[in-house]
Amino acid sequence: MDKNDEFIIQGLAGEKKLHGAVIINGAKNSALKAMAASILFDGPVILENVPDNSDIQTMISILEKMGAKINVKEKSFTSFPASPEPQRASKNSGGLILEIDATGINSTEIDPELATSMRASIVLTGSLMGRFGKVSFPAPGGCVIGARPIDLFLSGYGKMGATVKEENDCLHKISAIDGLKGAEITFSKISVGATETLMMAAVLAKGKTVLNNCAREPEIANVAEWLNVCGANIKGIGTPTIEVEGTNGKLLSFKESFVTIPDRIEAGSFLILGALCAKKLKIEKCQPKHMNTVVKLLVELGVNIKIEKDSIIVSASDFINSTLPRSIKTLEYPGFPTDLQPPLVVFLTQIKGQFSIRETIFEGRFKYVGDLIKMGANITTINSREIKIKGPTPLHELSENEELTAHDIRAGFALIVAALIGNGKFTINNVHLIDRGYEKIEERLKILGVEIERTDKAR
Ligand code: UD1
Repeated sequence: MDKNDEFIIQGLAGEKKLHGAVIINGAKNSALKAMAASILFDGPVILENVPDNSDIQTMISILEKMGAKINVKEKSFTSFPASPEPQRASKNSGGLILEIDATGINSTEIDPELATSMRASIVLTGSLMGRFGKVSFPAPGGCVIGARPIDLFLSGYGKMGATVKEENDCLHKISAIDGLKGAEITFSKISVGATETLMMAAVLAKGKTVLNNCAREPEIANVAEWLNVCGANIKGIGTPTIEVEGTNGKLLSFKESFVTIPDRIEAGSFLILGALCAKKLKIEKCQPKHMNTVVKLLVELGVNIKIEKDSIIVSASDFINSTLPRSIKTLEYPGFPTDLQPPLVVFLTQIKGQFSIRETIFEGRFKYVGDLIKMGANITTINSREIKIKGPTPLHELSENEELTAHDIRAGFALIVAALIGNGKFTINNVHLIDRGYEKIEERLKILGVEIERTDKAR
């Protein structure tokens, strides 16, 4: 997995012939936060079903640099019995088991270089502030999908009695000499990161913290429920108001391991891919109840979907369309997830109808649209938050030497789907960004019948 890696994909020219099963990994947006929470514990913790992608590796490196000891134990399920129908994504799936002992952490400086490659690094400030009352960190990086400010975090720490200093090159130093104190914090905007970070900070703070206008994403509940089993006192999990009563000491590591919930964004990505390209695709080990909004929309548009207890089967539909113009907007959970907006747009280019997509979460999430237009999609940009799509349009090959560019994790996956629908051969560059969120994606796609190769541009 190198910065020069590219994918070369043979399009299916609209044929729905992929076939098989894909096993969904643990949610990176959950596992990364549990890794950060390990700092709150009195000894080593075990994290299960952790996906093996580059963001997880980055978080391992950040924690190790601060003094944590991490043992990557094994895959929790390494292989499945071969079965001819449908094919199973055998050795490519299964989660890592991480044993993290953060008790020896002796630095509260989050490595600037590593932190700027991943937005989730900011969540570490919560557990570090909770345990040590101080932290130094750079403005976090991550997908370039908007301004992504950190004002909610900083004002939250301020309310909890900390002082925030900003030094040159955006280095922030936060400290609370006598430790954080419980406070009532009302977020001016719903934020996943701010909710979970301040929730973690509050676990070891003195007194009670009330967080209002919280995000309700299942990944936050996944971590919060585990913290409670281990001694935290968090109420209102999954609601807009979370109350945390600070504990008198660190959390108890021996209580229970953390089991990462299935990645609903990965499952939704494969669902959209299957709706466009598969004769039959079984999406296994997912949590359908976390995907209600996505499933409902696709079913309304005519996609054949069958829901089972922990799997979803999508099979070729004859007639996908929308008789009325439709307006779809991304929203916080349980609304339509912003992370599935790029693959949804690719899907809509193939559907008879007129659609408007409004991106309400991030203002910079349509960069990939230019590539779709080059492939023949009929998309009009209204402004940085809204586009209109008229479908269906076949997607064609680009001119010689032209490539598709993955601008971020999810837009990168969307371009894989676009290339697959397309007629011809496509090169996608910047695939290291796709690797941040989708483990061994080309191996899993090959099993379904996709012709995809990873090449090194520099070679
Ligand atoms: C998380 C997910 C990301 C997903 C996003 C929204 C991780 C690692 N990433 O990102 O995949 O797309 O939730 O579901 O879990 N904001 C502020 N000030 C702040 C913090 C956020 O204005 O201090 C804004 C952001 O710019 C954005 C909105 O709040 O417009 C929501 O962002 P947020 O929910 O914080 O996203 P992340 O936690 O970064």
